[in-house]
Amino acid sequence: MPRKRPLTEAQVRGRRVLVRVDFNVPRTEEGGVADDRRILEVLPTLRYLREEGARTILMSHLGRPGGRRDAADSLRPIVQRLSGYLGQPVPLIEEITGPKAIAEVERLADGEFAMLENLRFVPGEEKNDPEFAAALAQLGELFVEEAFGSVHRAHASTVGVAQRLPGYVGFLVEREVVGLSKLLEAPERPFVAILGGAKVRDKLPLLKSLVGRADRILIGGALAFPFLAAQGAELGATPVETGLDEEVRSFLEAARAKGTLVLLPVDLLVEIAGRREAESAAASLVPAGAIARDIGPLTRDRFYAQLSDSRTVFWNGPLGLAEDPRFAPGTREVLAGLATIPGFHVCAGGDSGRIAEDLGLTGAFQYLSTGGGAALEFLEGRELPGLAVIPDA
Ligand code: 3PG
Repeated sequence: MPRKRPLTEAQVRGRRVLVRVDFNVPRTEEGGVADDRRILEVLPTLRYLREEGARTILMSHLGRPGGRRDAADSLRPIVQRLSGYLGQPVPLIEEITGPKAIAEVERLADGEFAMLENLRFVPGEEKNDPEFAAALAQLGELFVEEAFGSVHRAHASTVGVAQRLPGYVGFLVEREVVGLSKLLEAPERPFVAILGGAKVRDKLPLLKSLVGRADRILIGGALAFPFLAAQGAELGATPVETGLDEEVRSFLEAARAKGTLVLLPVDLLVEIAGRREAESAAASLVPAGAIARDIGPLTRDRFYAQLSDSRTVFWNGPLGLAEDPRFAPGTREVLAGLATIPGFHVCAGGDSGRIAEDLGLTGAFQYLSTGGGAALEFLEGRELPGLAVIPDA
């Protein structure tokens, strides 16, 4: 994809710069920040803006409050965390648009920051309402897209504002595009994709897009169950997404035709009611009443064998119920193996980065994306409205 106009080309000194960030971070039960990677990753851009004397107005969404103000989705805990990292206060502007918001941004001095309250408190945000977009644009003179995790959304703050102000991409967005493009444009081969997680229906477009591009696709986690079921496996009491037989078969057919090897589990770790330990079972025959929770040891070895000579690897989604130590070995051992293999390894989408971090295995990757759905859509080769709207460099 063409390079987008970088922030370094903007004259920011003394100007109000609206920066869209994605602070939609995982939260603790008490509403605190559970994982601050999305905050840490934009600090280089924010420090650059401070050094260059910009007056920075941050905007983000958090959760899905559906156009209504909900204290549980306030950005307050996040601006507190951010203020600590920047070593200066970042006031939260509660009234997102209108005369009060304008007065607050006009008070900013060079090198100062403020943050608008959760944009999704306003119904116009997700509808890309022109009036709301214009009211946001009124707060700034320049726009910086730094919310890679949201570039697949055509919302007021990602597209509407960018249509009304000169737009640039921040350092994180640039890094994401460069990192992920390596998988799209001439990846070194063999290129292996390891996919897990759940929600097969959501992942099918990605799986299909990898046919003919990846040399091998290794499928684990709940993603594997509909494939196994379509091949006649008995999966006991395992919940399996239904109604996908046709799509799954046509995917396997297309992969065969294009010479993409698809590897499914041959064994599984299962949970049996009343037993504390995980048990192994053949992937074709999970005992009645048992629930499949992870790939088994034979599958781990087979996956490792397919990875050992790889040059490029893309991982998305756990291979089992990684948050339960009994069913973490699939993900942990495959990632630990990956860490020993040279090449360019990318982790992207959903909670994958957090899972790698919880397992202490981020070192398996040369690039970890902050994008959930956005990264997956990027890798499918789809046009992302929040990027398309920014002029090329
Ligand atoms: C994400 O976390 O994937 C982004 O912040 C987008 O959130 P959304 O799916 O609620 O639009």
